[in-house]
This record gives sequence, C-alpha cells and structure tokens, in this order.
Amino acid sequence: MARRGGRRGLRDSGTLAATACAAMISHQTLRFATPHDAGAIAALSRDEIETGLPWTWRAPRVRHAIADPDTNVIVAGAPGAVAAFGLMYYADDDAHLLLFAVRRSQQRRGVGSALLQWLEEAARAAGARRIRVEARMDNDAARSFYNERGYHERAIVPRMYSGRLDGVRLEKWLRPADAA
Ligand SMILES: CC(C)(COP(=O)(O)OP(=O)(O)OC[C@H]1O[C@@H](n2cnc3c(N)ncnc32)[C@H](O)[C@@H]1OP(=O)(O)O)[C@@H](O)C(=O)NCCC(=O)NCCS
Repeated sequence: MARRGGRRGLRDSGTLAATACAAMISHQTLRFATPHDAGAIAALSRDEIETGLPWTWRAPRVRHAIADPDTNVIVAGAPGAVAAFGLMYYADDDAHLLLFAVRRSQQRRGVGSALLQWLEEAARAAGARRIRVEARMDNDAARSFYNERGYHERAIVPRMYSGRLDGVRLEKWLRPADAA
C-alpha cells in the first residue's frame, strides 16, 4: 500500500492507468476527474445521492477530494457531460467508496457496473483489503446493485443521514482479512 502523501489507487500506476484512461464503457469514456468536473460532480451528488438531505458535497469539497492524494475520483463522460462518477477514499487497508452515482438518464445501461469494476481494480492495485460503502436503507436500487456485485450488508445504522434517515453499511473483501 502506498504511504500517505502518495497517490493511492491507479493514478500513478502506469499500466493500469493507461488501460483505465482508454476505457470505453457503454459508449462512455472513463477518466480521472479534473478540477473542471467538480461542479458537475457536485450537482450529480445533490440530484442523485443527497436528495432530500442537506447538500454537503459542493464543488469546493469535490475539488479538494480531486486534489487529495488519498482519493481517486473517476468520471464517465466528456468534460461538461459527466454521466457518472465515483469517489474512493483510501485509509489504511480500506478503500471507502464515499460517493457513487450514475445520471438518471444513463442508468441501467451498465455504466455503474463498469465504473465500480474500475474502482475495484484500482483498490486491488493499491493493496486495499476491503471496500466499504454506505447506502440509504430505502435505496433499493443501490442495495440491489451492490449486493449483486458481492457487497455484504454488515450493519444497519439508524439515522445515519443527517440524523434522520437510516443507512446500511456494506463491504466487499478483496482478500481475506487475515491475509498479509
Ligand atoms: C445504483 C446505481 C449506481 C446503479 O447504476 P447503473 O448504471 O444503473 O447500474 P448498472 O446498469 O451497471 O446495473 C444495473 C443493476 O443495478 C441494480 N439496479 C439499478 N437500478 C435499480 C432499480 N431501480 N431497482 C432495482 N435494482 C436496480 C440492478 O441489480 C440492476 O441490474 P439489472 O438491470 O440486471 O436488473 C444508480 O442507480 C445510481 O446512481 N443511483 C443513484 C445514486 C446512488 O444510489 N448511489 C449509490 C449509493 S451512494
């Protein structure tokens, strides 16, 4: 695992980064986000993830994440036309998928699956043992999406979101917990 201060995941991993940057998924190009994508990502978070909750992932926070060496932010789509994105934070042996969304008009076309696969490969390349993610309890689409991709629901957390909405914590082990 890279040390803190070094870019985790694929950004500096030449072969994988080259593969990923060239990836075409469901007619969408997957690429690393740039600061110019921050506004579109923040808007997607507001519209698809933080619906009905205070909008906490605004452009400056997203821009900060894009610049953070311990975070990978991946987008599908050209600049100015972001169709989906994933924001993965690395801490110790865990990769934490903090934000993940596909624009409504682009859903159920395989974009989310492709993006998640890319992020999982990045996490493996970074040496992560586990990917963690949370979803609202009432988010059947996300729970089904993650469950079908090997994520186990490990805890239900009452009032996880803004002290109001219940959430569920999911995880996927990339290698056994006791492996070196
Ligand atoms: C969850 C999400 C990322 C899935 O992205 P996607 O591009 O539609 O996913 P894919 O097309 O790759 O896979 C579709 C699969 O996801 C699940 N799924 C997606 N939408 C669903 C829905 N409305 N109801 C039930 N299952 C759903 C199903 O397993 C589906 O497989 P199927 O089409 O064979 O039934 C997308 O619905 C989304 O962005 N939702 C809003 C934001 C969100 O909930 N993010 C995750 C929590 S942070």
